[in-house]
Amino acid sequence: MLLGVNVDHVATIRQARRGIEPDPIMAATLAILGGADGITIHLREDRRHIQDRDLKILREVVPVELNLEMASTKEMVGIAINTKPDLVTLVPEKRQELTTEGGLDVKNKRRLIQDVIKKIQDNGMPVSLFINPDHHDITISKEIGTDMVEIHTGMYAEAKGKKQEKELLRIMNAVKHAIDIGLVVNAGHGLNYFNVSKIASIKDIRGLYIGHSIVSRAVLVGMERAVREMKHLIRTAIENKGITYTSSEQ
Ligand code: PXP
Repeated sequence: MLLGVNVDHVATIRQARRGIEPDPIMAATLAILGGADGITIHLREDRRHIQDRDLKILREVVPVELNLEMASTKEMVGIAINTKPDLVTLVPEKRQELTTEGGLDVKNKRRLIQDVIKKIQDNGMPVSLFINPDHHDITISKEIGTDMVEIHTGMYAEAKGKKQEKELLRIMNAVKHAIDIGLVVNAGHGLNYFNVSKIASIKDIRGLYIGHSIVSRAVLVGMERAVREMKHLIRTAIENKGITYTSSEQ
């Protein structure tokens, strides 16, 4: 299972002073040395953390998957076409939110998202849609031509006890449905060192996209070590208790 490390919050610290440090480019390099299989950045419309310069330099220096998260806007489509990341993940974006709060509204924004998917694919890049673990949203995602989906794990991450088990089951069922209809499936949001193992145990998931918890740990122990520790948890989860589906789980 791949680990894509989101370095947005390294840029958040930099932008607190509008200076040059810490540099997300250096953070990305160290994350790769620690075992990251990919680097993710979200170039937001308000440029609150990642800047255009970061995307440009990362495109030149990142030898693993560079995943650009972006809103479905004309400006962002142009930027993606010019810089050619390895993967474009479409996410909803609201100016007031602290972070991406929910999955894409593929039901109501179907036409717009379908159009953006086509433009990105026509320019040689695969597309992933960040969506809630919802059967209908997965079906629509397939219908509108996406290559991959990233299942939103935020509700699982925030829930406790029995509620969290329910959310885990929702994610497992969503993954199964997506695989069954021929989508490649990733997952992410809110995953940390304490809740990642159960998600990493779901065998059919291609990759996990994790940011805040890794950057938070990196502040204390360094980026390389923070990534290595997350990679270790993911690897152990897969080796020890890979969850497979049985009919009773559906
Ligand atoms: N996946 C998507 C689509 C996101 O928008 C984010 C947050 O930028 C993440 C994964 C990573 O979430 P977190 O920072 O909570 O690990």
